[in-house]
Amino acid sequence: MRAVLGVGGGIAAYKAAELARALMERGFAVQTVMTAAAQEFITPLTFTSLTGQKTITSLFARESAEGTLASAVEHIGVAQGADLLVVAPATADLLAKFAHGLAGDFLSTMYLAFTGPVVLAPAMNTAMWEHAATRANLETLRRRGHVIVDPQDGLLACGTVGPGRLAGIDAIAGAAVEAVGLRRDLEGETVLITAGPTREPLDPVRFVSNRSSGKMGYALAEVAARRGARVLLVSGPVALEAPAGVDVVRVETAGEMHDAVMERIEEATIIVKAAAVADYHLSHVPTHKMKKTAMRLSLELDPTPDILAEVGQKKGDRLLIGFAAETDNLVEEARRKLRTKKCDMVVANLVGGEHTAFESDENEVVLVMSTGETAPLKRAAKREIAGEIFDHALKLRLALHAAQ
Ligand code: CTP
Repeated sequence: MRAVLGVGGGIAAYKAAELARALMERGFAVQTVMTAAAQEFITPLTFTSLTGQKTITSLFARESAEGTLASAVEHIGVAQGADLLVVAPATADLLAKFAHGLAGDFLSTMYLAFTGPVVLAPAMNTAMWEHAATRANLETLRRRGHVIVDPQDGLLACGTVGPGRLAGIDAIAGAAVEAVGLRRDLEGETVLITAGPTREPLDPVRFVSNRSSGKMGYALAEVAARRGARVLLVSGPVALEAPAGVDVVRVETAGEMHDAVMERIEEATIIVKAAAVADYHLSHVPTHKMKKTAMRLSLELDPTPDILAEVGQKKGDRLLIGFAAETDNLVEEARRKLRTKKCDMVVANLVGGEHTAFESDENEVVLVMSTGETAPLKRAAKREIAGEIFDHALKLRLALHAAQ
């Protein structure tokens, strides 16, 4: 497999040298393309020495390794010869160029000529990362099917603390491996995933809901699809785009989510209940808007169906993964849910106070398995956590079959 490693001009450019090596360890032949700005941070010689292939540094009038002038159409040849393009660090400037199709240097020109999988690992200052322009560019690139390996939170070179630090080298190299389809270990599986909150109406204009953003469930759907699964995503109301290649069924209430899940359970081989389902609802929603009075108002709420518990009863040999959001006694509570709801795995995360994962792009969880094992996963982007959940799920299924 041949990878082109595009290096942008950011302080994280030095980490791209380590990435070049990590890609080679995973079986890629690596050719590096550096932007002019990247060469201010690290020299082409570093990459040429590590990869054994000449590093491309400009679009025109370059000396090739053999001392001859390279062709001005070399970007086409490089694009056609590559199986994968990985860009790290992908600066705000590169993301903007790619999103808008600008082609003023070798890397952006090669990007336009390249039709294979693209993995982008952004790194930049937090304010730049959070700027509406960058968000919009990322959205465009995601919709185009590119894999974005989100940056981590941490202390940045500019002295601020926040998201913007280049993702871990293993995470980027892992995404590269998956992007070229080296890893299609969920092929043949149908993964049914629930995501987001539910919304329980109180009258025609008001509802009770919760802070779930749906990001964890959508990350699971995206990763499962990338690893070859057929994915059925039952989603509560969220502001997220459907990941590429995923069938989305949109629902509002716990009742609707219940029906959508029960209709699809037969087709599934793995069921992941990441949704934050409301536990109570108003059974009889008034058809007219409630009027304000000076009196105290009490509402009598009835329990919603516990979807996870019902799936647990009907699951047969399907692998069932539940979620538990807890403020205390994380692992004990997860074990209790695992038993009472007949799950094979519970993904437990601490919520409340500084631990809230609801609107974050990152999460920190403990996987509690029916075999009695636990696996704490360190804080990481939700897509990375999603990948690890499936890694553990596949191992768990093998262990459960072996024990039968
Ligand atoms: N869940 C569900 N149906 C419900 C409530 C929860 O399927 N009506 C699922 C969630 O999707 C999640 C798991 O149950 O996978 C745990 O959700 P959580 O709210 O933490 O648990 P509860 O059942 O509400 O348990 P408790 O109130 O005892 O903490």
